[in-house]
Amino acid sequence: MAAAVPSVEPATEAAAARRFLQGPPKQLLIGGKWVPAKSGKTFETINPANEEVLALVAEGDRADIDEAVAAARRAFEAGRWPSLGPHQRARYLLRIADLIEQHADELAQLITLDNGKPISEATVEVGRTVDTFRYYAGWATKFYGETNPSAPDFFNYTLREPVGVCGQIIPWNGPLSTISWKVAPALAFGNTLVLKPAEQTPLPAVRMGELICEAGLPDGVVNIVTGFGPTAGAALAGHPDVDKVAFTGSTEVGKLILQASAGNLKRVSLELGGKSPNVIFADAPLETAVALSATGVFRNQGQVCCAATRMFVQESLYDEFAERIAAKAEAIRLGEPLDQTTTMGPLVSSEQYERVLGYLKLARDEGAQAKAGGERGPQERGYFVKPTIYTAVRNDMRIAREEIFGPVAVLIPFKDENDAVLQGNDTTYGLGAGVWTRDLSRAHRVARALRAGSVWVNCYGLIDPISAFGGYKQSGFGRELGPQSIDLYTQIKSVYVKL
Ligand code: NAI
Ligand code: MG
Repeated sequence: MAAAVPSVEPATEAAAARRFLQGPPKQLLIGGKWVPAKSGKTFETINPANEEVLALVAEGDRADIDEAVAAARRAFEAGRWPSLGPHQRARYLLRIADLIEQHADELAQLITLDNGKPISEATVEVGRTVDTFRYYAGWATKFYGETNPSAPDFFNYTLREPVGVCGQIIPWNGPLSTISWKVAPALAFGNTLVLKPAEQTPLPAVRMGELICEAGLPDGVVNIVTGFGPTAGAALAGHPDVDKVAFTGSTEVGKLILQASAGNLKRVSLELGGKSPNVIFADAPLETAVALSATGVFRNQGQVCCAATRMFVQESLYDEFAERIAAKAEAIRLGEPLDQTTTMGPLVSSEQYERVLGYLKLARDEGAQAKAGGERGPQERGYFVKPTIYTAVRNDMRIAREEIFGPVAVLIPFKDENDAVLQGNDTTYGLGAGVWTRDLSRAHRVARALRAGSVWVNCYGLIDPISAFGGYKQSGFGRELGPQSIDLYTQIKSVYVKL
């Protein structure tokens, strides 16, 4: 059985990660200080590749959230952050980006150890996180107000002001990148915040907290409370002194967040689940369509909100596509995620593992045929599931309608463009969609017709901070990334001056 930190990685990064893991229990960052939970409680975070405990982490609860919100409020009202000049705020964000870059290998190790994704993917995640901090550092100096054509004896202008104290609740599938999606714009536009990382992957967030302290941000601007959803998360979502909540996670919890916001009418943005259609026409560039559709659904063990889980393949191509993508699935190297040659690691937790295995059983009950996978991995320990491709699936089966959040794709045939769009849109979700065709006009038509927040043409799953990301329908509302984050993290004040 593998040790908690297998020695397949260069010694220095592994040593840095090990040093971090071996310290005392991880604490909460509140008002610039690291403190234990008021209750004194801790919880274990485990390595999903071998089920061993990685570290103990403070289990924050309502009382800790109260303290953290109070610290964020003090920092906001004292103007410690909102009143800094925009160039100064930008410099802090750039400093955070530099520190992440300097500790990239260690952070990638922590992501892989805590989450299970292959180290190659964790490395990409760290790079994206750096990009996102730098991108929003640029916006700190560029969110303009307007002067408006008022009556001659008045002067009217608008100011973009921060929203205030933000509660940010993030998931475990991108434990570092989702921090940057929320923390970077909140800071760029002058807000203070309380971050609640997912209980499955607290370690990258705690290490980020240390780097944020090292960057020298004023106390209380960023507070981090590790803990569980129904306790710490719910306390943050319902807190009367939080002005805005940004949430990424399940649609089920997204609805609870929205309800909890009613108490003080806090602003809410939700990035939720998906069951994204990926439409492959007979004239698709086949080689790339197969390869990138496979990564589109199998990256991060399929635990991606916009994963290409429903593949609609034009009838004449169906059998060949099924053969080819099944072969791609079989070629995936499932194993120890710290190994550079591994292309799929374990699922994040025993809950997620049981959930996905439940769907594999359901697929059999519903009469689907496993062209590849369809079962757990051969490993004795860890939450490994084989990359799975199902045929003989109809769009009304539960495995084609419900978010599985594992390495599972269903292949469904379609007749023509109209049929593809009708079936593709027949879902309660609307996060991502793919179109594969060499016909330029059709590519644009289908991109318009699919009801999803992101559409990828002859590619899949690109997410770059330059462009908005978010959902249609029950995949949520509000757009993160791109200039659209200005709307999430600022509010507009209109000022009339009598001349
Ligand atoms: P979840 O929605 O329960 O957890 C996401 C975050 O919300 C975590 O930080 C969690 O602690 C917090 N949370 C949970 N309950 C809360 C509550 N009542 N109030 C406030 N915060 C709360 O997701 P979970 O249970 O980890 O995964 C379940 C399913 O959700 C997955 O199988 C997948 O289908 C979906 N999911 C979607 C994600 C996405 O990227 N859109 C990410 C994670 C999960
Ligand atoms: Mg949950």
